[in-house]
Amino acid sequence: MLINEVSLQVTVEGVIGGSVVLPCSGREPQLTTEDIIVNWKHHNSLNVYAIIKGKVSVEEQDPKYKDRVESFSEKYLRGNFSLKLSDLQHTDAGMYQCYIIEESIIEIVALLIKVPLQVLIVGYVGDSVVLPCSSELNTEDITVHWRHNDSLKVYDIIKGKVSVEEQDSVYKNRTESFPQVYKTGNFSLKLNNLQYNDTGNYICHITNELLIYSMELLVKDEKDQGTQSRTEKIVTLVAFLSVFILFYI
Ligand SMILES: *[C@@H]1O[C@H](CO)[C@@H](O)[C@H](O)[C@H]1NC(C)=O
Ligand SMILES: *[C@@H]1O[C@H](CO)[C@@H](O)[C@H](O)[C@H]1NC(C)=O
Ligand SMILES: *[C@@H]1O[C@H](CO)[C@@H](O)[C@H](O)[C@H]1NC(C)=O
Ligand SMILES: *[C@@H]1O[C@H](CO)[C@@H](O)[C@H](O)[C@H]1NC(C)=O
Ligand SMILES: *[C@@H]1O[C@H](CO)[C@@H](O)[C@H](O)[C@H]1NC(C)=O
Repeated sequence: MLINEVSLQVTVEGVIGGSVVLPCSGREPQLTTEDIIVNWKHHNSLNVYAIIKGKVSVEEQDPKYKDRVESFSEKYLRGNFSLKLSDLQHTDAGMYQCYIIEESIIEIVALLIKVPLQVLIVGYVGDSVVLPCSSELNTEDITVHWRHNDSLKVYDIIKGKVSVEEQDSVYKNRTESFPQVYKTGNFSLKLNNLQYNDTGNYICHITNELLIYSMELLVKDEKDQGTQSRTEKIVTLVAFLSVFILFYI
């Protein structure tokens, strides 16, 4: 196929189990139905979906996409070959290519998948916690971004090297990762001297595989609770003794 045009990359974000629409549109006005031949691929190799002469063809579709993709046939003639991908999985993350054969166009879409880790990490003011993040990738030049509540910059690993230049000042001297285990795909982050407002959502965005792990951290004050319950016990004891003494006087 002779390529006239490769469009700029679009990024779409989805969550595990959810669905997304991967956009792809040709030039307008469209050709006739007979001329509509579109191939959607993942990683430039897996066959995700095909539209041949205006008709859906799943004959060569990779089994992992079976019953999970649909397009919008009523919009083909307007040049809209977007694809809806449902029941999103881990392995769906990555680059998708939409080949519009007749027009010699390739459109590239990056699909980012958010994986909510089903854990609540509990820490105590002044203590430390390890926020987990692991990947099956173990390339040397991996890039990982740790963020709090979607915006605060907590920590970065850029091409395998720690980078704290852009770190938000509230995390200064409070973060560490474990470079010795990067090669096993472990990009966990240790957060020291916890503060109440460290509570919230944390994401570990592994850019190389377009995955975002998401988790919740709750910071509590253990010592306060401890003293409180001791105080309560003393109050109860004093109350009991008062009643006891009153009763016997
Ligand atoms: C194509 O159709 C889909 C599904 O209705 C829609 O979400 C998308 O915005 C359309 N794209 C364009 C470029 O109109
Ligand atoms: C971080 O540690 C360095 C070196 O120990 C020190 O100079 C700096 O003031 C510390 N920064 C903060 C914000 O605590
Ligand atoms: C990653 O490394 C840290 C520090 O060695 C460790 O606490 C954590 O359990 C490791 N995580 C995994 C998934 O191996
Ligand atoms: C969190 O609380 C600490 C201590 O009270 C304060 O220094 C810091 O600025 C707060 N951080 C944010 C992001 O609000
Ligand atoms: C992050 O969000 C949580 C929950 O909404 C909130 O309790 C916390 O104060 C926020 N922290 C910062 C620093 O924005």
